[in-house]
Amino acid sequence: MDTKTNLRFMLLLFLYLFLNTNICLGADSISANYSITRSQTIVSTGGVFELGFFSPGNSSNHYIGIWYNKFTSQTIVWVANREKPVSDAFSSELRISDGNLVIFDESNTSIWSTNVNSSRSASVQAVLLDSGNLVLSEVSSTSKPLWQSFDHPTDTFLPGSKIAYNKITKTSQFLTSWKSSEDPAPGLFSLELDPSDNSYVILWNRSTRFWTSGPWNGQIFSLLPKMKRDYIYDYNFVSNDNESYFTYSVYNTSIVSRWVMDVSGQIKQLNWIPGKGWNFFWSQTIQQCDVFAFCGYYGSCDESTLPFCSCLQGFEPKMQSYWDLGYYSDGCVRKTRLQCGNNGEIDKFQLISNMSLPGKKQYKRAGSIRECEATCLNICSCTAYAYESSDCLIWTEGLLNMRKREGNESSEHTLYLRLAASEIPDHKRSSQSRKLYILLFGIISVVVVIPCAVYLVYYLGRKKVVNKRGDRRSIQEVQVISLYDSEKQIREFMHSGQFREDEKKGIEVPFVVLESILAATDNFSEANILGGGGFGPVYKGKFPAGQEIAIKRLSSTSGQGLQEFKNEVLLIAKLQHRNLVRLLGYCIEGYEKMLLYEYMSNKSLDSFLFG
Ligand SMILES: *[C@@H]1O[C@H](CO)[C@@H](O)[C@H](O)[C@H]1NC(C)=O
Ligand SMILES: *[C@@H]1O[C@H](CO)[C@@H](O)[C@H](O)[C@H]1NC(C)=O
Ligand SMILES: *[C@@H]1O[C@H](CO)[C@@H](O)[C@H](O)[C@H]1NC(C)=O
Ligand SMILES: *[C@@H]1O[C@H](CO)[C@@H](O)[C@H](O)[C@H]1NC(C)=O
Ligand SMILES: *[C@@H]1O[C@H](CO)[C@@H](O)[C@H](O)[C@H]1NC(C)=O
Ligand SMILES: *[C@@H]1O[C@H](CO)[C@@H](O)[C@H](O)[C@H]1NC(C)=O
Ligand SMILES: *[C@@H]1O[C@H](CO)[C@@H](O)[C@H](O)[C@H]1NC(C)=O
Ligand SMILES: *[C@@H]1O[C@H](CO)[C@@H](O)[C@H](O)[C@H]1NC(C)=O
Ligand SMILES: *[C@@H]1O[C@H](CO)[C@@H](O)[C@H](O)[C@H]1NC(C)=O
Repeated sequence: MDTKTNLRFMLLLFLYLFLNTNICLGADSISANYSITRSQTIVSTGGVFELGFFSPGNSSNHYIGIWYNKFTSQTIVWVANREKPVSDAFSSELRISDGNLVIFDESNTSIWSTNVNSSRSASVQAVLLDSGNLVLSEVSSTSKPLWQSFDHPTDTFLPGSKIAYNKITKTSQFLTSWKSSEDPAPGLFSLELDPSDNSYVILWNRSTRFWTSGPWNGQIFSLLPKMKRDYIYDYNFVSNDNESYFTYSVYNTSIVSRWVMDVSGQIKQLNWIPGKGWNFFWSQTIQQCDVFAFCGYYGSCDESTLPFCSCLQGFEPKMQSYWDLGYYSDGCVRKTRLQCGNNGEIDKFQLISNMSLPGKKQYKRAGSIRECEATCLNICSCTAYAYESSDCLIWTEGLLNMRKREGNESSEHTLYLRLAASEIPDHKRSSQSRKLYILLFGIISVVVVIPCAVYLVYYLGRKKVVNKRGDRRSIQEVQVISLYDSEKQIREFMHSGQFREDEKKGIEVPFVVLESILAATDNFSEANILGGGGFGPVYKGKFPAGQEIAIKRLSSTSGQGLQEFKNEVLLIAKLQHRNLVRLLGYCIEGYEKMLLYEYMSNKSLDSFLFG
């Protein structure tokens, strides 16, 4: 092949690709004439949503999904073949077949279908709407859709869709979390409507409910007093002869909003902030460790450490890859199988203290802790026992919801976890050596250690303060907990007329939640005080990633009211200039008013702040 032919070939290829992409961009529907394969997509008329094959994260699996067309980070709102990925998008296809929308895999077998009965097979088409709804209907008919994706939600609840209970078929629609950020298969957490009292509930494994919104009282869900209709959202609960459902819409359609049943077992409402990304508007205020079985079997939850979940001694994550991604629901498995008397090996027990005692237990008769232990040993399925005030409790299933207890809580909760003998160091030897250690310690401490220890305690105490900051949950995780309040507050503040329309542009300064500031300043510790001005102290803060800031905490007695605060934010925001210390954020929460500035180590900052 000479270069000329090569060139011509490449030109043709280019033209082909160019035309091909053009065709893709034009289409908003899949019809008998137009199917999807490879990287082809369809885009809704207004360019809001896009549908095509995607692979989540680093996964090599391909799924048909719908995502926001305009955002650079792909946010999937719906997945067709959640449980049946295809491995090769190039030879797989989404097309109309026998009046249905069907995904064919690389060997041309149907792996997913809309499964509806329609009379005229050739005349159906599937249109992607700007609402994010994919609607299958007959081409020349305006009658109701044969099928629509809004009736088959995955984990996302979009404005205009509904999570309904069908009173005729007595079935619920529900949102189900993904298994992990790289696996859209249905996870363990789901949100659905409880028709008995019109409340929404979050279930674990579709059976155990651990959160409820409280019943709808005509205005709000009774346990979510803050989720009321406002200037942004219109919430509606509809109940008629056929169904009942909750739905919401945004008054200003340029606001992009979604709810998601997250893999963490939390339901979250997020808004897209241009240039910043997804921002939590609301999430149900549930502590992470209160999410049912968040750490799975034999995992224990502790909110004071990161990660929250760890495996009990003698156990390891069932799926290390999920665990690494931060999804723990799969829990932990034994490193060594229990022997239960086989080969003459007797299992042993590991004492675990300060742990809340997990769910399903049985009461047994036992006169002493030894008897209780023997009872457990005799039952091969017994996994743990506890002996409390003459009660012998045993567990015969996997342990769920283990939780580190707070220091001030009763510490008599002691669990004995059954493990293969090889997982536990020899009791006798360890107790003997413990005695030896105590003796040795006694001698040595008197002579050397005590003076050193006093110094060490002092030194470590200081170090801990520093470490604690690193250990804290990331800003985002902190925000999950109470962003509703702070976000709401700032919105109400901005809309209360304190900031006039034309001034709004001037304050593109981010709002920072108080929790983040508390974390950054170690609860406003004195060690972080840089100085104090007329309006109150100025603290140095440091975010987990290392960003340093100066925080001016306006004392409530300083006399600087809302008006002055507003003026200062506006003034400084307008003055943003590289020669001036820049305003990085602000915070208003309750009586707390704070301004976040760039942190500069030299004196120029001091003179600006206190001058
Ligand atoms: C599909 O093709 C048929 C004939 O090949 C044509 O009449 C029809 O208009 C086409 N439909 C679309 C949506 O392009
Ligand atoms: C994909 O894998 C690479 C390397 O293993 C890693 O750095 C990256 O964070 C992963 N991306 C996602 C989205 O998990
Ligand atoms: C797939 O199978 C159908 C019949 O089931 C056939 O009409 C079609 O041509 C096949 N497609 C490919 C790419 O082989
Ligand atoms: C479709 O039709 C078949 C037979 O006519 C029937 O058994 C099936 O239940 C129908 N499916 C739906 C979804 O209506
Ligand atoms: C969820 O429930 C099903 C039965 O409905 C059961 O087979 C399965 O093991 C449960 N999953 C977990 C993680 O417990
Ligand atoms: C309930 O369903 C029936 C039959 O599909 C329909 O005729 C009726 O209008 C529906 N009622 C409401 C309130 O939607
Ligand atoms: C809707 O929001 C956009 C951007 O947030 C704004 O530019 C527009 O004026 C708003 N429209 C209405 C009708 O409020
Ligand atoms: C359990 O809690 C008590 C009281 O806070 C504490 O003194 C003890 O060290 C804790 N034990 C363990 C093993 O963490
Ligand atoms: C432990 O302390 C926390 C806050 O310091 C408190 O909310 C909780 O009720 C206390 N628990 C007990 C058992 O005293």
